[in-house]
Amino acid sequence: MNNGLMKKTLLDVRNVSIDYVNRNEAPAHAVEDVSFVLHEGEMLGLVGESGCGKTTLALSLLRLLPAAGRITEGEIFFKGTDWLDLTEKQMEEVRWKEISMIFQGAMNALNPVRTIGDQIAEAIRQHLGETRKSTLNAMVEELLDRVGIPPNRRESYPHQYSGGMRQRAMIAMALACSPDVVIADEPTTALDVMIQAQILELLSRLQKQLGLSVILVTHDLGVVAEVCDTVLVMYGGVTAEYAPVDVIYNFPRHPYTQQLLSAFPDLSKPTERLVSIPGYPPRLEALPPGCRFAPRCNKAFDRCHVEKPELRFLASDHAASCHLLEEK
Ligand SMILES: Nc1ncnc2c1ncn2[C@@H]1O[C@H](COP(=O)(O)OP(=O)(O)OP(=O)(O)O)[C@@H](O)[C@H]1O
Ligand SMILES: [Mg+2]
Repeated sequence: MNNGLMKKTLLDVRNVSIDYVNRNEAPAHAVEDVSFVLHEGEMLGLVGESGCGKTTLALSLLRLLPAAGRITEGEIFFKGTDWLDLTEKQMEEVRWKEISMIFQGAMNALNPVRTIGDQIAEAIRQHLGETRKSTLNAMVEELLDRVGIPPNRRESYPHQYSGGMRQRAMIAMALACSPDVVIADEPTTALDVMIQAQILELLSRLQKQLGLSVILVTHDLGVVAEVCDTVLVMYGGVTAEYAPVDVIYNFPRHPYTQQLLSAFPDLSKPTERLVSIPGYPPRLEALPPGCRFAPRCNKAFDRCHVEKPELRFLASDHAASCHLLEEK
């Protein structure tokens, strides 16, 4: 998409809606009518504030939602097959081998009493059924090497690794079955800026070397600018805006994208004041009747408070959901 070449579509997510259904509570509409396409070798940034549904959407792609989660609408085509039509057994065949995921916070949940090498070997054993010790060792060493960890460090325990190394080990695990797509949920959150840059560099390098496609989940637009080709900006479970990265940064059309960008420092204009977005994202049990962003929007008018805006295409690769786009 970014260089004008027609790239193969790997993942085609169409109009996906997800509810959380808990006992004695009305269903919570965590994700509503979200669509996007992931091309071969592309890095897609999934951005938005805490609670906007990023992890929910990411988990749904692998059909790994928690028990209360239900995909109520939509299709998730991977290489032409709708994964929502597969049985759980068929899902087990494709999960991790086609698409794998680095779970949010997983680097802090490594088993403290088992070596890193053992834990990576366990992932390979589970997903590929490989049991020969010598083969497993060789595979673990190759994976560690690929993510920049000296292979002899496979004998170390998680507490003997730095935060950056633990996240590298998680990336190694995600690569264990040579997937086409890796979903990385907040892989750099909680790492310091230098280490964050190294992890992004690693993901970029792997993307190029292995032809990997990556869905990078983050609340940090700075991270997105650094490595992504396309961006899906979510707000309160819906798509605010979806476009190539340069369009999002230079010609944002949704007021949420615009306000989000003005809340980030621009090094080329260091004297400009940073503006924060007043208020909080909507609670799922009290969603506003019209546009979900209307209560915080600096451009909202009457219609925004009563009618949901449709997602409109401004170009073949640029969509946004805002009534202002129609009024003009
Ligand atoms: N098991 C659950 N039951 C009910 N509601 C849930 C459940 N899991 C998540 N939610 C709600 O769904 C919404 C989306 O949550 P999600 O974790 O997908 O957001 P997120 O964008 O990943 O946030 P963060 O940036 O904090 O990780 C939130 O309002 C959250 O409270
Ligand atoms: Mg999350």
